Amino acid sequence: MYEASLRVIGVRGLLRRLREWLPVPRLLKHEKTGRQKDYANIGPTAALIAYYRSCSDIPFARQLAYEIGAESASRQMIVDDSLLLAKAIVAFEARFKSVDAVLRRYPGITRFIEIPAGFSTRGLTMTRSNPCVEYVECDLEAMLTAKRRAVAQLIADMGERQSDSLRFQAANILDPDQLHLAAHELSSGPIGIITEGLLSYLNRDEKRIAAGNIHQLLKSCGGVWVITDLTRVFATNDARAAELRHNISVLTGFSPITGCFNSLEEARRFFEGLGFRVHDYRRSEVIDKLSAVAASRLTSSEILAFLETQATFALEAE
Ligand SMILES: C[S@@+](CC[C@H](N)C(=O)[O-])C[C@H]1O[C@@H](n2cnc3c(N)ncnc32)[C@H](O)[C@@H]1O
Repeated sequence: MYEASLRVIGVRGLLRRLREWLPVPRLLKHEKTGRQKDYANIGPTAALIAYYRSCSDIPFARQLAYEIGAESASRQMIVDDSLLLAKAIVAFEARFKSVDAVLRRYPGITRFIEIPAGFSTRGLTMTRSNPCVEYVECDLEAMLTAKRRAVAQLIADMGERQSDSLRFQAANILDPDQLHLAAHELSSGPIGIITEGLLSYLNRDEKRIAAGNIHQLLKSCGGVWVITDLTRVFATNDARAAELRHNISVLTGFSPITGCFNSLEEARRFFEGLGFRVHDYRRSEVIDKLSAVAASRLTSSEILAFLETQATFALEAE
């Protein structure tokens, strides 16, 4: 479906539509080319992640990936290598489940903003399993339109009605006003803000702006910002992973490691410097919850070594 909407209006059409709806945020110049950055071009990576997650037991991941044609939508990025595929499936299942595990540490929070939502199924699952949950999915306009349609179709396929507690609001994380509009979709109280799979695409200045916007929001509402993609997922000498990064960069114009910190300690210092209290939770904490481990044929020590270096941070505004 995402592929279909791209086919109908094309990337240029998507971008034109995006510009009509969204004010241009600050600091959008590409460092190397000096041209304006088109964040909407990062969109296809959401289909790639949906494809990886479809190989796990994450609720609705397989159905949503089918709905959007995730495998064919990500064909230009996928590297034909079974070891890399196995590692990616484990890594992105672990990332998703680690975010869920961190959110469970905040049982008092029942209002959520997921930005970017991409093709994450978290909102659908959480609003179905707890009637108290209010959930706003945010992403750039074109992406959010594709997501909203895919979710509506999935719910219709199940013969159900869409819950009012799952809401959609177009928002750019670099735009404070759009974030406030998203927060207005929720009743008052502390908010869990989830940013999975975007920060590694943003440079330090962009991360500073995003973090400043979220800090402002948390200062007024209370709650927590749960973030991932702080350091590199794959080893620097992994040639097939380099190929995957190359494919992503060519397709989107964005490198998926631009925004990676050299270490988790460096990441901690960065966010502490911006006024956050940082809680560091390692991916290895969810190892026993991963469904993709058996099929991966990776040994448990390989998986442990691979996941231990990756973290999910829970940030509270001081
Ligand atoms: C790798 S995907 C991750 C999506 C989702 N969080 C997941 O884990 O499946 C990156 C997403 O970031 C979105 N995106 C890119 N730039 C953005 C921005 N400035 N503000 C909000 N979303 C953005 C893209 O549209 C895309 O959906």
